[in-house]
Amino acid sequence: MSIALVTGASRGIGLAVAEALRALPSGMHVVRLARTLKDESAERRTDIPCDVTKPADVDRAVDRVIRELGVPDVVVNNAGIFFIKSLAETTYADFTAALATNLTAPFLVARAIVPKMVARGSGHLVTIGSISDYIGFSGSTAYAATKFGLRGMHEVIRQETAKTGVRTTLVSPGPVDTDIWDAVDPDSKPGFTKRKNMLRAEDVAAAVVYAVTQPEHIAVTEIRLLPTIYSPRG
Ligand SMILES: NC(=O)c1ccc[n+]([C@@H]2O[C@H](COP(=O)([O-])OP(=O)(O)OC[C@H]3O[C@@H](n4cnc5c(N)ncnc54)[C@H](OP(=O)(O)O)[C@@H]3O)[C@@H](O)[C@H]2O)c1
Repeated sequence: MSIALVTGASRGIGLAVAEALRALPSGMHVVRLARTLKDESAERRTDIPCDVTKPADVDRAVDRVIRELGVPDVVVNNAGIFFIKSLAETTYADFTAALATNLTAPFLVARAIVPKMVARGSGHLVTIGSISDYIGFSGSTAYAATKFGLRGMHEVIRQETAKTGVRTTLVSPGPVDTDIWDAVDPDSKPGFTKRKNMLRAEDVAAAVVYAVTQPEHIAVTEIRLLPTIYSPRG
């Protein structure tokens, strides 16, 4: 049976991706990683508490998955944090926290698994980027730095794995209505896409499913999604 590992799968996009992969007719076993998950298993599901910013947590979780289930066929680097602060407002702690979760963690996960996919000659690394991986919005100093970096890392991993049978996809959504927006409260602020117009977590999950279910000879390298009614904030 195919194995998928999804980071940040306790809620939002990661949870929707995990559920969509588990619901595939091919019947994947889905491993979910997040800090607030309990260590438990159900039919075709394993939950592992893991802080992906901690190298020891990532190594422990990946070692366990490989020992108990095998090298994952699909890895979705999804865990992320988001806040809006101008350059002047962004503290060192803000910046390094965003870097640790949004960029260093996907590196740790990719480094722990992609070489094993390469050795096997198959596998699919999906990276959840953002519209902020190709457009710089005011207030996104830290977030855009991490997401542009993530796109760079995706491009390099794509090139390094190009002849190996391993596929890589960057999914870059515009605003998606998840808890990540709660602190921003976009409905109360002019210039922001209203939550009712945002993408749904399931829309992003459908894009991931599209990428990973293509025939072996097709590599979907990048998918960009935007809400139809969209306010690009200045
Ligand atoms: N929502 C949007 O508008 C949007 C748009 C474009 C891209 N994205 C990207 O999509 C991804 C998911 O966002 P979302 O909207 O679903 O956010 P969310 O609802 O806030 O969920 C974030 C997920 O990441 C996990 N997470 C955060 N820090 C973690 C850590 N240190 N270790 C392990 N897990 C961690 C959280 O789990 P725990 O708290 O349980 O650890 C949670 O499952 C992020 O990379 C985000 O940048 C979101």
